[in-house]
Amino acid sequence: MADIRNIVILTGAGVSAESGLATFRGPDGLWEGHRVEDVCTPEALVHDPMMVHRFYDERRAKLALVKPNAAHAALAALDRAWPGALLVVTQNVDDLHERAGSKRLIHMHGELKSALCAACGSTAAWQAALPPGSKCAGCGQPKLRPAIVFFGEMPYEMDVIEAALDEADLFVSIGTSGVVYPAAGFVQIARARGARTLELNLDRSAGRSYFQECRVGPASLLVPELVRELTGRQAID
Ligand code: APR
Repeated sequence: MADIRNIVILTGAGVSAESGLATFRGPDGLWEGHRVEDVCTPEALVHDPMMVHRFYDERRAKLALVKPNAAHAALAALDRAWPGALLVVTQNVDDLHERAGSKRLIHMHGELKSALCAACGSTAAWQAALPPGSKCAGCGQPKLRPAIVFFGEMPYEMDVIEAALDEADLFVSIGTSGVVYPAAGFVQIARARGARTLELNLDRSAGRSYFQECRVGPASLLVPELVRELTGRQAID
């Protein structure tokens, strides 16, 4: 790992699993009792806004009951220690990366602790329940919705992400099944640029063949190990 300067790290639900947050495509295929497609689409928001808002209210409330795990802590330590470019791109909408201390972070699928105005496009920090018809402080319209990127909508900050991938010497994917694009295609962009590609996952993902190396195991063990390799430090501070 000696010749690595610029790193991009993609995380998915698997990095938060050991904190107690459900992944999406677990054995039962339901996400906290719902089919993902029933609560994560613009159509669902129109068809049953109360169900969609309530679903995200429940997940937002759950954040107070969980805390970052060793994988989040290790990535935050890497953020503090890494002298080169580092960008953590998370598909997760929880706040565990930032609570662990990560700064160089993008939530490409949005955040539970944020509300989006469907009228003016502004976002605002949001901690409590967000009932349908909540008013935007900016434009006054009763059009606030969860600031979550639904299926069929464009993820956030794709230009920044693609620019970072173009410069990456190392691309690491952690705790994601590799089935949802554009995130699932990042490894191919990085490889085309000549970056080294590494997957850390509890089992081999759908995109495993694109990675030069796959390490199988829990993120709470594999991520601190990787950070020790990258920083050359046994103790992760
Ligand atoms: N450590 C590492 N990996 C784990 C762990 C763990 N403790 N537990 C589970 N995993 C792995 C699973 O093996 C699986 O490959 O994490 C992955 C989680 O996959 P998904 O549930 O599909 O979640 P994710 O890949 O983040 O989903 C991507 O899909 O529904 C959309 O927008 C949603 O951001 C989400 C996107």
